[in-house]
Amino acid sequence: MCGIVGYIGKRDAYPIIIKGLKRLEYRGYDSAGVALLNGGLKVYKKKGKVAELESHVGGSDISSNIGIGHTRWATHGEPNDINAHPHSSSDGKLAIIHNGIIENYQSLKTELEQKGYKFKSETDSEVIILLIEEIKKRNNCNLDEAVRLALNEVVGAYAILILSSDDDKQLIAARKGSPLVIGIGNGEFFVASDATPIIEYTNNVVYLDDYEIAVIRDGELNIKSIEDVPKTPFIHHLEMELESIEKGGFSHFMLKEIHEQPKSIRDCLRGRLIAKDNHLNLNGMYQYMNKFLNTDRVIFVACGTSWHAGLVAEYLFEDIARINVEVEYASEFRYRNPVIRENDVVVAISQSGETADTLAAIDLAKSKGATIFGVCNVVGSSISRASHAGAYIHAGPEIGVASTKAFTGQVTVLAMMAIILGLKKGTLSESRYRELLFELDSIPDKIQKILENTEPVKRIAETFQFAKNFLYLGRGYNFPVALEGALKLKEISYIHAEGYPAAEMKHGPIALIDEDMPVVFIATKDSSYEKIISNIQEVKARKGKVIAIVTEGEKDIHNMAEYVVEIPKTEDCLQPLLSVIPLQLLSYYVAIHRGCNVDQPRNLAKSVTVE
Ligand code: F6R
Repeated sequence: MCGIVGYIGKRDAYPIIIKGLKRLEYRGYDSAGVALLNGGLKVYKKKGKVAELESHVGGSDISSNIGIGHTRWATHGEPNDINAHPHSSSDGKLAIIHNGIIENYQSLKTELEQKGYKFKSETDSEVIILLIEEIKKRNNCNLDEAVRLALNEVVGAYAILILSSDDDKQLIAARKGSPLVIGIGNGEFFVASDATPIIEYTNNVVYLDDYEIAVIRDGELNIKSIEDVPKTPFIHHLEMELESIEKGGFSHFMLKEIHEQPKSIRDCLRGRLIAKDNHLNLNGMYQYMNKFLNTDRVIFVACGTSWHAGLVAEYLFEDIARINVEVEYASEFRYRNPVIRENDVVVAISQSGETADTLAAIDLAKSKGATIFGVCNVVGSSISRASHAGAYIHAGPEIGVASTKAFTGQVTVLAMMAIILGLKKGTLSESRYRELLFELDSIPDKIQKILENTEPVKRIAETFQFAKNFLYLGRGYNFPVALEGALKLKEISYIHAEGYPAAEMKHGPIALIDEDMPVVFIATKDSSYEKIISNIQEVKARKGKVIAIVTEGEKDIHNMAEYVVEIPKTEDCLQPLLSVIPLQLLSYYVAIHRGCNVDQPRNLAKSVTVE
């Protein structure tokens, strides 16, 4: 949440910052701003998207070799020009941009007000820069020391960048709980919330850790802790390609990412699954295999779509590996005083690897002695680094705010984990293991087949674009898919939608059904097939409009449903990987008909780094 970019070097900072902010706009797009040093501190900020900031800057003199920029997702204070970042010190010499939340901002603000400081904005962020100003004056110290002392007083989460007009050769960065990556160029440095604004300039990056301050000065990077202990930067080499963060001819990132799924799943399986050799291997699991084999239960913690993948994992782990599973919303788990035992294995699922609640949930579980296994997409992210072990999903950057390829990547990794454990525990026979490997291997081609015929979904989207509500129903492995389909529709088309286990319908939601209610049944030919046919009849009897996702070649539902989308046959346990695809497409095309901004839906942001 909130994107931040900084540059210091020999090039013109402004175009680098603006391009970087556009790449980070998926993290927030309420307002944007930049601060540059150009014969003094110049701050430009504007409500709205980065494009509006550019118009606001217009023909101003923006030449500078150092600058910071921000694209905001509002927490404290409504999105307007004043609350937009950067925020300046009262003497106008310092500027800050901030991603995160300062929890004790009210008490710090009161203290500063008592000392005569006047606040211009309603943000928690302004408190940090005024506190730094106050400490610098009080102690007559360097800026980096004032930053360090101020951060010792601040409670909460932050990734900050600071500039001072007293020194146009220095950029200061610090983080706790919100991500920050420093790109190391040739005598130049790029700082950003994630690597996407950086990779076109350099693949060498340093991930700042919590409680670390980076001082970049005269072409040198020095890192120290907020206890003033020097740290040695560790340089990672990123493999990310520039094309992976561009739209590549698609009208939206979401559509590109939906269509990328055959490739992203192949990338996820590459080197791990070789079906003809009976080979399935997840390196990250091996060191902790005994923990997985000896635990009484595995707890999955996640939020949103990743939580839906966790629900699929519940079915997979119980069914294939006969392991007890709990699936927890990270935000509830962390505050519930949950019973966590030393032999518990906690699997954290997160696309971004930065979700604040998931991170806090694993910190809690770790403090109780549990083993943490991360299933993340973003390499080097906070959750992946806080985990004892893990497996990346290798989906490549996911930029559309609505998660698509991350979900299928997560389910792919979770299926591999369950299959490996099933074989090791002897709950899966050799022959069944072999069948599942071949079937998993065929999933990318089957998704490709679905994506080659999107016409039926497009027709349904056109028909129901004005619907006020949608119901999504599924059973067994398709129940989490029903939840995911409903979430996708809600978040990008703003149509109210609910997902339900189909059999639960008669315990309440059936009251909603009338001739205006589209009901999406995920009714593939699996072990719940007969049962779901009865549920379809119940909806038809009440004049609901039935849209069914069915297995190709099936006849019965064709005769019952008004609208049918066929998908290839697969094993029950891999069904979510196929059945979710038409639902992703449905939400996309409905949103397009309604004129919604699918990549940047209102109120949302990718990577929820605040709780
Ligand atoms: C929905 C969506 C969110 C995320 C959730 C968790 O399309 O993207 O529900 O799934 O915010 O994010 P991660 O997976 O990054 O922890």
